[in-house]
Amino acid sequence: MDTFSRHRTALAAKLHDGLILLAGNSPILRNGDVNHPFRQGSDFLYLSGAQEPDCWLLIDPKRRNHTLFIPKVDNNHRVWLGHVPSPAEARKAYGFRKAFHAARLPWALRRARRGHRVLYADKATIKRLSRLDPGAARGLSPRPAALRDALDTLRAVKDAGELSLLKRASSVTGRAFRAVMASVRPGMFEHEVQAVFESECRRAGLKRLAFESIVASGANSAVLHYHGNDRRIGDGSLVLLDAGAEHLGYAADITRTFPSSGRFSGKQKDVYSIVLETQKAIIDRARAGVVSTDLHVRSMTMIAEGLKSLGLLKGQTAALVERGAVRLFYPHGIGHMLGLDVHDAAGGRGRRLPNPTKIPVRFVARLEPGFVFTVEPGIYFIPALLNDPANRRKFRGSVDFARAEGYLGFGGVRIEDDIVVTEKGPPVDLTDVPKEIAEIESLMAS
Ligand code: GLY
Ligand code: MN
Repeated sequence: MDTFSRHRTALAAKLHDGLILLAGNSPILRNGDVNHPFRQGSDFLYLSGAQEPDCWLLIDPKRRNHTLFIPKVDNNHRVWLGHVPSPAEARKAYGFRKAFHAARLPWALRRARRGHRVLYADKATIKRLSRLDPGAARGLSPRPAALRDALDTLRAVKDAGELSLLKRASSVTGRAFRAVMASVRPGMFEHEVQAVFESECRRAGLKRLAFESIVASGANSAVLHYHGNDRRIGDGSLVLLDAGAEHLGYAADITRTFPSSGRFSGKQKDVYSIVLETQKAIIDRARAGVVSTDLHVRSMTMIAEGLKSLGLLKGQTAALVERGAVRLFYPHGIGHMLGLDVHDAAGGRGRRLPNPTKIPVRFVARLEPGFVFTVEPGIYFIPALLNDPANRRKFRGSVDFARAEGYLGFGGVRIEDDIVVTEKGPPVDLTDVPKEIAEIESLMAS
């Protein structure tokens, strides 16, 4: 049984008292007759691996039927867009025993609904079904929340097949990062760095990125999701690259920060070393049973200590963390789950924990073997936070704002790896990109 059919079987076991129906994504018009690049829905990929637009998936747990429906196209479609698999080809390609043209979905649903009362389907699927045939789901009551919960629960723990897809996404992304580090020079534009990264991913056959690449130099590296990518890289400035390819939908998400000139200045080394030591310590602690927010609080504590050593923060470390002064320099969480979505769900209802801290972070979960997530602490000098009058008043006693002003052009440092929680001991790190200062300098000198 392949990875995707195992996912269908697991979902059918959870939702055995109803029918499960999913509509795959449709093309999205950009303008005129031009579409956005097509990306299949993550749930649909999880359950089928099917990459074609306008597909449907019907699972009848009672009768153990998993049926894929694919669109029937005309010759005009074939002339412009080429071949679309026939049902027989789709059966083979995606490992289904049954596949039909999408027009037969209402017929199949009318037959399958006998003996069922519940339809596990999301709102978009129900809306599309009612456009196709408003009577096809008569007598079934929709349960979108239960479907969401079951999928989030299953998708949180990655199996061996998914781990191998994630590994390939990470390894190609890693190679592209190394190519970037070996080629960056002051005077290049951020978009040239982006071109090196993205062309390496494409050369390896990974045509799709998990998210828009962030290529930020100098002060831009203090913008967390910077997407301008159009500035000329100055001599002596930092370059922050946060990017990842995806492989059959599975994402990599890596960040490295390195000096444009190939050698870190003393000031850059100081800040970088704090982030690096924090990142390594948190990775080592990321073990089954640990609560993710504990990792985040620990990372804030280490960064607060580091900023104290640079004279940027002052006072009791615990108070700097609790009252939020450290968040002026580190205003995001330690990381996020990774999978078919770059910010993947951290489990369903059964796993959901109340956030034990007052810190607004999305990733709240007790770590389990098979969780894949990012560890990405950072330190940034963000004018919007450091010049904010309310922050200046509130944190007068804990931040040396005059000293912080001396860092305003510095930008920021973030270091991000993708890790897999194991049964016992430290996690497996999927990321193969230098992060030690000496390693980065030696790669950049090559
Ligand atoms: N890679 C962007 C993010 O994690 O938000
Ligand atoms: Mn990330």
